[in-house]
Amino acid sequence: MSLLAAFCAVAISLGAHARQTTVTPKPHFVPLRPALATSSVQLTFGLPATNMEGLHAALYDVSDPKSANYGKHLSKAEVEAFVAPKADSVKAVNDWLSQHGIHPEVISPSGDMLRIDVPVSKANSLLGANFTEFKDQQSGTTLVRTLSVTIPDDVDSHIQFLYPTTQFILPVTQNPRFQVVSPPKTSAKRQGLPSICSVDVDPECLEDFYHIPTAAANASSNSLAVSGYLGEFASEDDLETFFLAFRPDVTTTPEFSVVSVDSGVTTGNGTLEASLDIQYTVGIATGVPTTFYSVGNPFAEGFIDLANFLLGLDELPLVLTTSYGFNENDFIGSEALAESFCNVYAQLGARGTSVFFCSGDNGVYSFSFNSLCDATEFGPTFPSTCPFLTSVGGTQGFSPEVAAPFSGGGFSNMFARPDYQDTAVESYLTRLGGEFAGLFNQSGRAFPDVSAQSVDFITRISGVFELVEGTSASTPLFASVVALLNDALLTAGKPTLGFINPLLYSEGSSALNDITSGSNPGCGAQGFPTMEGWDPVTGLGTPDYEKLLALVTGLGA
Ligand SMILES: *[C@@H]1O[C@H](CO)[C@@H](O)[C@H](O)[C@H]1NC(C)=O
Ligand SMILES: *[C@@H]1O[C@H](CO)[C@@H](O)[C@H](O)[C@H]1NC(C)=O
Ligand SMILES: *[C@@H]1O[C@H](CO)[C@@H](O)[C@H](O)[C@H]1NC(C)=O
Ligand SMILES: *[C@@H]1O[C@H](CO)[C@@H](O)[C@H](O)[C@H]1NC(C)=O
Repeated sequence: MSLLAAFCAVAISLGAHARQTTVTPKPHFVPLRPALATSSVQLTFGLPATNMEGLHAALYDVSDPKSANYGKHLSKAEVEAFVAPKADSVKAVNDWLSQHGIHPEVISPSGDMLRIDVPVSKANSLLGANFTEFKDQQSGTTLVRTLSVTIPDDVDSHIQFLYPTTQFILPVTQNPRFQVVSPPKTSAKRQGLPSICSVDVDPECLEDFYHIPTAAANASSNSLAVSGYLGEFASEDDLETFFLAFRPDVTTTPEFSVVSVDSGVTTGNGTLEASLDIQYTVGIATGVPTTFYSVGNPFAEGFIDLANFLLGLDELPLVLTTSYGFNENDFIGSEALAESFCNVYAQLGARGTSVFFCSGDNGVYSFSFNSLCDATEFGPTFPSTCPFLTSVGGTQGFSPEVAAPFSGGGFSNMFARPDYQDTAVESYLTRLGGEFAGLFNQSGRAFPDVSAQSVDFITRISGVFELVEGTSASTPLFASVVALLNDALLTAGKPTLGFINPLLYSEGSSALNDITSGSNPGCGAQGFPTMEGWDPVTGLGTPDYEKLLALVTGLGA
């Protein structure tokens, strides 16, 4: 077990009747006091799917450009048939809960997730638990968790995960770096590349550099979703000022809609991450209908809830971009939760949504900005390590374009490498030789998949221009390129892209700019070097819209 493991989980069978799981959290989680018996605790039960492997196979079948079924995304009912729990699981869990007078709410369209909201005293008696307030001394976050859970044997096999109980997983992190700058010098820099990008990086610079069209998109059925957590919000006023400065060619008022999930905020002043994400989606994917999903729960639940909310829609967003992430190491001991969490993206991909996540901003150390940074083992970023979505790293500079040194990248300790990565990743590992042996898992899902510019993005935040950097910047940018490709496909009457990794790792790589300079150190450790072809810093490379357009419009029927 790795030294960086968040905790060690042990399962003990108690005679023939029940299974007890006990954990020892890392020492920086300090117990404060028993949770107030009358306060409530919300628990999510994941039930095993009828056929998750079938869903994965169907996802690859519709995402592989060589398949006859390429682009034939699954219907809501088809996905739910794979994911729905078996009737005996539903019965076992409901019978057990109803014996305790608890009636769960079904929170996923397939019925594979249930939620209860009960007083702590009830949760303690149901689960033989002792819910306690723990304080994480590193982040100051308080978590209500228990060191032990006991589930009757006849119910245990029908529960995939039960969260949050013994999982000491911190809320999501976003950590773009930024600095306040004086008003942009818009007139001085319109002199062609690369000087167009020399003062700051703005939409016009990125459109020039990546050959992204500036004309408004045409398909009204197109859609781009931006998710926000941690109370982040984007303001229409900031967006309008941003457009006046950097998209003077657009004469219509820029707009986006807002949907709240888990009581996420729906008003407020612009904040850093949300302003960046909205300005570099609405500002790049010109005219693509864009929705900001404001999610009120910053824990794993909030991500699962957003996915379940989207899966409940008949028409899903065609692209979803998220600039937040977790440390995969926090999920060690909670692999079943991580798997279910990852599988919601397999469902979205099967329905035809392209899902993008940032790869992290601390090089080979994910989001660890604290004393956990020791050079004993690299720290991958989750959900970037989930094989069913596209992880986006960061670059900087224009002649040449090189890796941004903070670009998160590496190898999962939890998810095996998917087939579509075999050739690209094995080639990299061969050339790397034995370097960093023992610091990462050679057979894990490797990330990021792609990258894009990520430094000096000028952003209007609550009335002030600031320069922002991070894979938080490259992710909405790459997602916007894909939204524009979808626009062309919709206009041509062709299927939209959906899960794009199998395409990117085959024909797609020739439509990307390969980045071959730079590395991603983190926490004092030397990072992976970039190389020709895929590397765990910049993935397969950065987008060239025109080449990608030629590729995707030539696919399929
Ligand atoms: C529950 O945990 C508290 C610490 O928060 C401890 O003082 C108490 O003895 C525990 N109760 C039981 C029944 O284990
Ligand atoms: C939308 O259609 C117009 C007219 O055909 C075209 O000029 C424009 O390039 C299209 N927009 C995009 C983003 O391709
Ligand atoms: C927004 O900013 C203004 C000016 O700084 C401030 O007065 C107001 O309280 C802020 N509103 C919210 C909801 O934070
Ligand atoms: C390495 O990754 C594989 C595939 O996910 C996994 O089965 C194995 O347990 C991992 N090994 C370590 C030491 O984490």
